Amino acid sequence: MPLKSYLAAIEHALKNHRYGESPIELYEPIHYLMDLGGKRLRPSLVLMAYHLFLDDWQKVLKPALAVEVFHNFTLMHDDIMDEAPLRRGKPTVHEKWNRDVAILSGDVMLVGAYDLLAESECGDFKVILKRFNRTAAEVCEGQQMDMNFSQRQTVDEAEYLEMIRLKTSVLLAFALELGGRLAGQADEIVNQLYAIGINLGLGFQLKDDILDVYGDPEKFGKQVGGDILENKKTWLMIKALEACEDSSLLHWIGQTEFEPEEKIEAVKAIYARYEIKEKAEAKMNEYFERGFSGIDALPVSFSRKQELVDFAKYLYGRER
Ligand code: IPE
Ligand code: IPE
Ligand code: MG
Ligand code: MG
Ligand code: MG
Repeated sequence: MPLKSYLAAIEHALKNHRYGESPIELYEPIHYLMDLGGKRLRPSLVLMAYHLFLDDWQKVLKPALAVEVFHNFTLMHDDIMDEAPLRRGKPTVHEKWNRDVAILSGDVMLVGAYDLLAESECGDFKVILKRFNRTAAEVCEGQQMDMNFSQRQTVDEAEYLEMIRLKTSVLLAFALELGGRLAGQADEIVNQLYAIGINLGLGFQLKDDILDVYGDPEKFGKQVGGDILENKKTWLMIKALEACEDSSLLHWIGQTEFEPEEKIEAVKAIYARYEIKEKAEAKMNEYFERGFSGIDALPVSFSRKQELVDFAKYLYGRER
């Protein structure tokens, strides 16, 4: 199945989905964010994982959408926490409306995600619900670690990897797991799918951190340099802090009054001095390689696996 068939079905289902009607102030921001597009990676992963085993993937669109709505809920709240002005090339919900709106619309999106999940027509719903909940709690744990790290001067690589495993990878992994569970797969396969999602997710977040510094603002859709301004302890920042022999980087991290562009340029110059981008790309490659090996090891026919391989390649090369 080509990716665009999945995407067309996902977009169509999202367009027809009703989150609620009144008060309009609660639901309008949800439509706004959902209609801004996005890559729809997570629901695509659900459908692809299901399609590794069974043909009637349209049957699991609702639970696939549940994961996408949950993801968008995390973005709405993440943008408040990160003070992000832009999402998918447009003003974030808290900028266009205000924080209260972004909090409450986000809350009701989480509820909406459960409603969609409850419409699963196959799989063991009790197990799926428990796994969804564990994943959702882990995303929150990762987000809290991310914020804690912004306040700390040093963070090591292992701590960073655990943080991104939680805030990002577990949801991609759960998407693959969910597809497998809905297709009635046993734990062994489900665990294999989950491990693929973790590795692709780690590579994916490393790529996100790289794009946050080096992305093309036109394509990326988010504020380039945002992580630097927020003192995010990305892999790039951690490695630069380890490499930097003088106090220049710590100076910028400690600065409370600054010109945003000046800080971004100064930090990028330090990254360039220590070839941080190249090192981050090498690290990202490691995880994508592990993801590819995991797909390779799946006990299904080559032709069934090909769409997952192509999807992982697309994630690897993405510019937005
Ligand atoms: C953004 O996710 C949040 C991260 C985990 C980096 P995506 O890059 O999948 O965002 P959209 O949904 O395509 O906009
Ligand atoms: C994403 O982390 C994690 C979430 C759970 C939303 P980021 O803060 O890096 O995501 P973006 O870059 O804003 O999309
Ligand atoms: Mg964040
Ligand atoms: Mg963010
Ligand atoms: Mg980011």
